[in-house]
Parts: sequence; C-alpha cells; structure tokens
Amino acid sequence: MSAGRNFLFIPGPTNMPETVRRAMGGAQEDQRAPDVPDFTLPLFADLKKVFQMKTGHVLVFAGTGTGGWEAAITNTLSPGDGVLASRFGLFSQLWAELCQRHGLAVDAIDVEWGEGVPVAAYAERLKADRAHKIKAVLVTHNETATGVASDVAAVRRALDEAKHPALLFVDGVSSIASIDFRMEEWGVDIAVAGSQKGFMMPTGLAIVAVSEKALAAMATAKLPRSYFSFDDMLRMNKNGYFPYTPPMTMLRGLRASVDLLLGEGLPNVFARHHRMAEAVRRAVGAWGLSLVAKAPQWHSDTVSTIWTPPGVDGAELVRHAYRRYNLSLGVGLARLAGKVFRIGHLGELNELMVLAALSGAEMTMRDLGATLAPGSGVAAAEEHFRATAPKTN
Ligand SMILES: Cc1ncc(COP(=O)(O)O)c(C=O)c1O
Repeated sequence: MSAGRNFLFIPGPTNMPETVRRAMGGAQEDQRAPDVPDFTLPLFADLKKVFQMKTGHVLVFAGTGTGGWEAAITNTLSPGDGVLASRFGLFSQLWAELCQRHGLAVDAIDVEWGEGVPVAAYAERLKADRAHKIKAVLVTHNETATGVASDVAAVRRALDEAKHPALLFVDGVSSIASIDFRMEEWGVDIAVAGSQKGFMMPTGLAIVAVSEKALAAMATAKLPRSYFSFDDMLRMNKNGYFPYTPPMTMLRGLRASVDLLLGEGLPNVFARHHRMAEAVRRAVGAWGLSLVAKAPQWHSDTVSTIWTPPGVDGAELVRHAYRRYNLSLGVGLARLAGKVFRIGHLGELNELMVLAALSGAEMTMRDLGATLAPGSGVAAAEEHFRATAPKTN
C-alpha cells in the first residue's frame, strides 16, 4: 500500500480514536478478579447514559448487531407471536427475515427504499389489532443501506394512541451514540447497538438496552435462548461478572469510548454528526447528484447513500477510490448494488477528514468520466463548515 493511511468512510467499522486503541492495548486480565466489578458496574451504569435511560439495563454480549436482533426476540417472544415490521433497505429486511426464521408471524410492510418506517401504516395495523396479536413492533432507526433515519418517537405515539401493549424494538446499530436516541422518553423496550459504529470500536460487541417491560416479558417467552439469555447475563452482571468469558479487552475499549462520548457530551456528539452530514449533503447537491433518502425528514446523519452520476457504476467507483486514493467508501447493498455509493460519516470525525473523503470521491467520479466541476463538492462543504464553525478563542 502507498504511503499515508487508508481513509475509512464506510458506515462501520469506523475510525478508532487513539484513546480507545490504547485502552485495548493492555495485557490480558483475569475476568474473575475481585476488582473486576469496580470496572464493570460503573461501565454498565454509564452505558445507560448513552442510551438515555434511567431504568432497565444495558447488556453487553460478545457478538455483533445481528446477535443483538436475535437476543431481542428470543428473550421476549414465543413461536407464532405477531411482529409488525417494515422493509426499506437491506438491514430492515434482514431483521424481519431473522424473525421469520424463528417462527414468528411477521407482518412486514414493504416501503419504497428511500423512505423510512411507515408510521401511518403502523398506526392502522395497531388500531386494527384489537386482540393484541402483535407482540413486538420493529423499527430500524437508521437504515444503513439507504441512508434513511426514521422517527421512533412517532411509532411510540402510534402505539400509545392505539393503547397497544406491544413491545417496541429498535435497531440502533448505526444510530446510537451518533444520532439522538432516547430509550426512556420514547418508551423503547429493546434497543440494539454494535461496537463498530458510533462506539468507534472494532466489531465484536452487541450492546443491548432492555426496559423493565421487556424483562417482564421474559417470564412467558418461549423461544429457545441460551447464549443470549438475558436472565443468565443479568444474574451475573448484578455482581459485575459475566456468565461466560467476557471480552475484557473490548470492554476496556468500550470504557474509553463511553468516556469520550460523555466527555464531549451527547448533544455535542449529535450536533457534530449533523454538521458533518450536512456538509456531505451540500457536496452531493453541488455535484448535481441526489441521495436515495427521498426527503429531508429521512436524511441520516451517519451515512449518505448517493445515486452515482450517469454512466458511472457504483461498484467501480468504490473500487477505484480504494485502489487509486486509498479511500474506503461504502458499496451499494442488495438492490442498490452498482447504482449508488455510500459515505459513512459517523464516529470519530472532523471537518478535514470529511473534506478528504469528499475530495477523493470527487476525483474518483471525475476519473470515471463524470462531469463534475472540479472542487465543487469540497467547496460547498468548506462553505458549510466555515458558516457553522463553533466559536474558538
Ligand atoms: C442498521 C444495521 N442493523 C444491523 C446491522 C448488522 O450488524 P452486524 O453487522 O454488526 O451484525 C447493521 C450492520 O451494518 C446495520 O447497519
């Protein structure tokens, strides 16, 4: 590889801050040592701050976001239970499929890719379900394939208006710790995050927030669960330990990550992500291109999925950016393959990093024959950054 480093602009894994990297560089440690709870119990408590919750628990499993999806349903549901879901991108589709594979009765509403959770259709289904056959409602907060963010609070309102007792499950894999997410205020029962996105860590942890209501549902839930059993995890976590060998190295990294997030302050973290995302959107506009997200209400502050210029293949664009400029962009997934490219703008990121990615994307598109004015996207992003610069002294 050429000099310099890879510019990582996929929507996860994301760039790892030096402090997180260092925190994971220590010797291996005894996971049953008497002082382990001094480390783990405050970590569990601080994780709740990231999810914006006071009651309930945050459980950390060695696994990935997909494992978190499985944990959510197997701990709370029984075969044949109704699940209300919607499909508007690869990840919302896969979560619904995972539920089907577990023998749940999934009503998956197909939505045009580029839009998010169909709140009105959810409201109708919930009102019509007088027998309360729907036991869980799924929301993919941020669909990473399309760059679409959804309104979780509106789904909560739909549940409340229908006086429906279903559990509300949120996939926050590419939103939590980057985009405002309020577990308690929005009445979310289970929220799933992964370590490799907003938490700025390597892949390998499923971070699952669970409400008291979801915990109560475990009493009657009959789907088989073993590795992801909340019961086993909670019993051991209570005293600061785990039911099996915990990934201590990753937990050390998580501690550093949570310290960074809380040190910056969640509102500042969210505002920074919005500002970075808006700069990318300005660049997209200046290039004369458009987002897959159909309207500003769906704009994601963590990933932009961009239709390629006429005649430019998305896979070729991503390949060229990597080979020629050592820039990693996201490919189009599933039905978007070849038609789009994605810029991930989450995690540890500042203005100049974003400008570098935009410059690389711009040069790549021009190399491949797109007619873009040189520097147009970068200039638009620069202007946005200058106009919204935080005050410095
Ligand atoms: C929104 C969303 N949900 C779930 C997943 C699956 O997570 P993992 O790949 O960590 O299993 C991803 C992965 O990118 C995602 O973006």
